[in-house]
Amino acid sequence: MRSVKSSVKGRKTAGTRLAVVIVIVVQALGIGACSLQAPAQPRINEEIAKQEKIYRSRGADVPSGYVTGRALSDYAGLLPSGFCDALGKLRSSDQWLDIGAGEGQAILDYYAPEDNAAPAGNCARPRGQARAVAMSIEDRRTDKWQQQAANLGDGHIRYLFGKSLRNYSREELGKFQIITDVYGGFSYTQDLSQFMEKVLSLLEVGGVFYTMVQGVHLEDGKDKPDSWYQTELVDAAGRDVKVCSWLKKTTCAKVACESKGDWDSPTELINVQKVCSDVSVPRMKLLKFEAGNPPGRRFQLEP
Ligand SMILES: C[S@@+](CC[C@H](N)C(=O)[O-])C[C@H]1O[C@@H](n2cnc3c(N)ncnc32)[C@H](O)[C@@H]1O
Repeated sequence: MRSVKSSVKGRKTAGTRLAVVIVIVVQALGIGACSLQAPAQPRINEEIAKQEKIYRSRGADVPSGYVTGRALSDYAGLLPSGFCDALGKLRSSDQWLDIGAGEGQAILDYYAPEDNAAPAGNCARPRGQARAVAMSIEDRRTDKWQQQAANLGDGHIRYLFGKSLRNYSREELGKFQIITDVYGGFSYTQDLSQFMEKVLSLLEVGGVFYTMVQGVHLEDGKDKPDSWYQTELVDAAGRDVKVCSWLKKTTCAKVACESKGDWDSPTELINVQKVCSDVSVPRMKLLKFEAGNPPGRRFQLEP
């Protein structure tokens, strides 16, 4: 009969063998002990550096997918259906913020004279009532912007650059009746929860955030079967979460989504109205970030 000591020793030896096997398997798979805890951080930092290079790119170096000059008519086609009406109803005391404005062409179109060859199509008539702020990480102002800003005078249109939305205080920016985002911060940020919280803090109660995001699981479930997902959300157990389901858990926000399953990439057009002040957005952490136009991202909802 084996002694208790030898059976403990036997268990230890078996345990040690198992540990050695696990280490070998883990090494063979290329997963270091450190990466088991913080899987992607160095990789994410590298990708963020690549993303910053895209922001800094100029002339022929700008990647072809990084479009910065969309017109107001393009915004009308890419944002939820109520956007044009809401823009047309702004009064002179209201403010419009465009986050991720690129060259600020949509704002220039809003101020174009009504007899101009209607670059905005039917969007925003009457136009040019409110003040507008264009925000971009990098300065993409054109001569046209500089001229229009000088003609309007009195800080009617402002162009803010040099940092991301999260780095502005509410005092610096003021409050807005409308905030738009077309392939801007919502599609590019590394912290979607913090981004949304900041947007909502800048909206007047009753004000609306109009945005869109491509390559997501659609609210109406009509994504094409071979869809490729660029922004993925998962819950704590790793199950897919739709961007609209996540947004609808925000307090003091009324969220409506228009799913575009027949577009090249499944795209959600999103309307978020702030209905009271006590806003709280469910937190998510970044699991994956791959530089691009827009970047590939994976977020996990915190329990
Ligand atoms: C692809 S361009 C889109 C420009 C414009 N909306 C258009 O459709 O032509 C992306 C813009 O988003 C800006 N951007 C990305 N993340 C941002 C953030 N967190 N805060 C402010 N701007 C951001 C970039 O600096 C750039 O101006």
